Amino acid sequence: MNVYSLATKGFVSIPYPPELRTKVRGAMDSWKAFCALPALEKLKLSGGDRKKDFGYMFRQDIGPRADRKELFHATLPNLSALYEQAELVKQSEATAFIGATDTLLEAVSPFISDFAKSVERTYGLNGFPNEVSTSRRLWTLRYLHYFANNASKGDVLAHAHADRGGFTLHMDEDSPGGEYLSFNGRWRPFPLTEKETIIFPSLVLQHRSKGWLKALCHRVVATAETAGKERFSMVAFVDFTDKVRWNDAKHRSQEKAPGFNYAMSHENFSKFFTTQ
Ligand SMILES: [Fe+2]
Repeated sequence: MNVYSLATKGFVSIPYPPELRTKVRGAMDSWKAFCALPALEKLKLSGGDRKKDFGYMFRQDIGPRADRKELFHATLPNLSALYEQAELVKQSEATAFIGATDTLLEAVSPFISDFAKSVERTYGLNGFPNEVSTSRRLWTLRYLHYFANNASKGDVLAHAHADRGGFTLHMDEDSPGGEYLSFNGRWRPFPLTEKETIIFPSLVLQHRSKGWLKALCHRVVATAETAGKERFSMVAFVDFTDKVRWNDAKHRSQEKAPGFNYAMSHENFSKFFTTQ
């Protein structure tokens, strides 16, 4: 796996092994089928409260960042609870969706391990593959569904931010609109194709690599093609147990200027972190 462009461009495009691509498609189709279920049925797969942050979530934010979306988080440790909850929904789409998620979490594991090995080799992050593979319980699959809205071309659907964990796989989306902030300060569309996934570093990997790999700032905008329409997408957040984490109590990462971390020294960047 060639991961050189992580440092030069901020992300890599990696061809999917065909079997993995098929499983991603299966999971995405089953998410769409799940989304079509009645709202009260979907809520049976909720994690209970916003803090627990797993299962089905419906978000209707108001104010300048208004958006309406539904999302779903799955990790290995909460799969068995999700299977049980899916049984309470008397519709086969619910169990099929959790089954496809389970299959995908399994199938993506060797792919993520290969990526971690390539990062270790290319950037000298000794021990990185082990840190990643022993943290599988922390990996999160996130499914997103933005409802049809009255956005116009150029409107921002997801505001500029860097992800907080280790690294992010952008696995699938049914329409364009994802953009990244390049190192020279320009917004560019992610070059997404059917056959590839995009991986980019998040805040903890920037810290772990001592600033070699920058947490990539990204956002979602409405394009001429997608304005006003619903949008489905899917990402995997791969966390690993570094000894530090972003100090959210003191520093809200969402409130930082886009790309604040690109030219910052590692010493200054480290001040935003706290020990676990
Ligand atoms: Fe993100």
